[in-house]
Amino acid sequence: MQFQKFNESILIIDFGSQVTKLIARRIRDLGVHSEVVTPKEVKKIKDYSEVKGIIFSGGPSSVTKSKYQSIPNHIFTKKIPILGICYGLQLIAKLFGGKIKSSKKRREFGRTFIFKKSRSLLTKNFFTSRAAVWMSHEDAVVKLPKGFKSVAFTKDSKLTIIENKTKDIYGVQFHPEVTHTDNGIKIFKNFIFSICKVKKRWSASSQKNRLIQDIKNLVKKDKVICGLSGGVDSSVAALLINRAIKKNLICIMVDTGLMRKNEFKYTYKIFKNKYKLNVHLINASNIFLSKLKNISNPEKKRKIIGNLFIKIFEREAKKFQKVKYLAQGTLYPDIIESKSSTGSKTSKIKSHHNVGGLPKKMNLTLIEPLKEFFKDEVRILGEALGLEKNICYRHPFPGPGLGIRILGSINKEKIKILQDADHIFISELNRNNLYDKIWQAYAALLPIKTVGVMGDSRTYEYTCLLRAVISEDGMTADYFSFPKEFLDKISNKIINNVKGINRVLYDISSKPPSTIELE
Ligand code: XMP
Repeated sequence: MQFQKFNESILIIDFGSQVTKLIARRIRDLGVHSEVVTPKEVKKIKDYSEVKGIIFSGGPSSVTKSKYQSIPNHIFTKKIPILGICYGLQLIAKLFGGKIKSSKKRREFGRTFIFKKSRSLLTKNFFTSRAAVWMSHEDAVVKLPKGFKSVAFTKDSKLTIIENKTKDIYGVQFHPEVTHTDNGIKIFKNFIFSICKVKKRWSASSQKNRLIQDIKNLVKKDKVICGLSGGVDSSVAALLINRAIKKNLICIMVDTGLMRKNEFKYTYKIFKNKYKLNVHLINASNIFLSKLKNISNPEKKRKIIGNLFIKIFEREAKKFQKVKYLAQGTLYPDIIESKSSTGSKTSKIKSHHNVGGLPKKMNLTLIEPLKEFFKDEVRILGEALGLEKNICYRHPFPGPGLGIRILGSINKEKIKILQDADHIFISELNRNNLYDKIWQAYAALLPIKTVGVMGDSRTYEYTCLLRAVISEDGMTADYFSFPKEFLDKISNKIINNVKGINRVLYDISSKPPSTIELE
């Protein structure tokens, strides 16, 4: 385990909650390093000298069953403060002799009010007289473990926050990590700064030099190959590696022809001329177009694009001799997900485009310099490396590109229509200072033609759908509320300037139940 380089870290033990990642983010946003491990991995940790606090996450297990997820007892003997959240609280109560009951009567889901019972360091500035918190549980602690006291209660449960001050162990039944809990950040602030007494020292940018040195030490004189898409993750990964090994990093940009207007050429020029990267642009748009001809099934399109991308990348990579490593912009959330303590996989909604199949096939060793970081941190790192703001803060863009934003079959004409409409939309967002307020925005082309009238003539053209969402991590999203004037302007501008579109719709669905992309 790697707690050797941060001086102070908060260890988060993941019992399988959907929102464990958010706990880690909240702590890092407060300027303290945090690391997520599974209960199994805890057994392997030998050195706790850098761990200044431990958080047990929520999870689907139930301590009322004969089998439930637990934790080695040694964790309680380290004299390190512990905070249990939801299942984490129930586990603490169980292990210290309290009583937990599963009861439909006591279950609480969604927004719930909690009331203060006694003072605690954990709830400093958290309450006025009550607080609105987010609950999601059926099991509840019904009898306090020995040595613990009740700090707060709800209408249905007397033991919503508990603490054992002597042992520095705390538990909350609600989820302070979700934004639906008012003041949830105060719970974390109190825990890490007042109880764990950690200093604010962590920032992604402070890791830049260490990362460059790590890459230098690992790669030495060998060569690394990297697929550069121009998205923030691959761009930051490439800049970091370039700082470490210069021309021994070979970047390949595969132009699928399914990118936004002018984007690929622009990004290529920036990386070649401004950042002096050893970058090779492969124009593969014709082959992508021909393989996609008359294909309208979304999953088929995704598979064709993903497989073809791998094939072309592999072919190009073979042209370079003595390459040992393949760089990928894998992020920390992917790592957390891939080692989820419950091992459960959410059902597949869409097959995501990535190049995960490459290292095995090509016999290359993976190098993932961003695997410790969240997306926001990658952007901070990007800024520290001098990456242009419009690349660094670019909205996420899916691997299959416009291939999944042109619904139904794809052809050159439709790509051009969509690129023009999307360009107008995004330019107007920038001009109206809206771009940075939105997590992701794009235009899509629907496979529907409708009748319109322009001048005195009838038109029969495509329908353009605009999507703009706010989100924290893409897992859930809400549509963005534009002022009516902006929608008026954008609809007019697209219809008047893009030949082939005579109707513009704005998507007002949230995720779930919809998804961000349409295919
Ligand atoms: P959905 O449509 O699943 O999208 O709500 C969530 C986020 O994922 C992006 N997305 C992809 N990103 N390869 C990617 O790298 C893909 O195949 C892919 N499909 C969707 C989507 O743009 C949104 O940000």
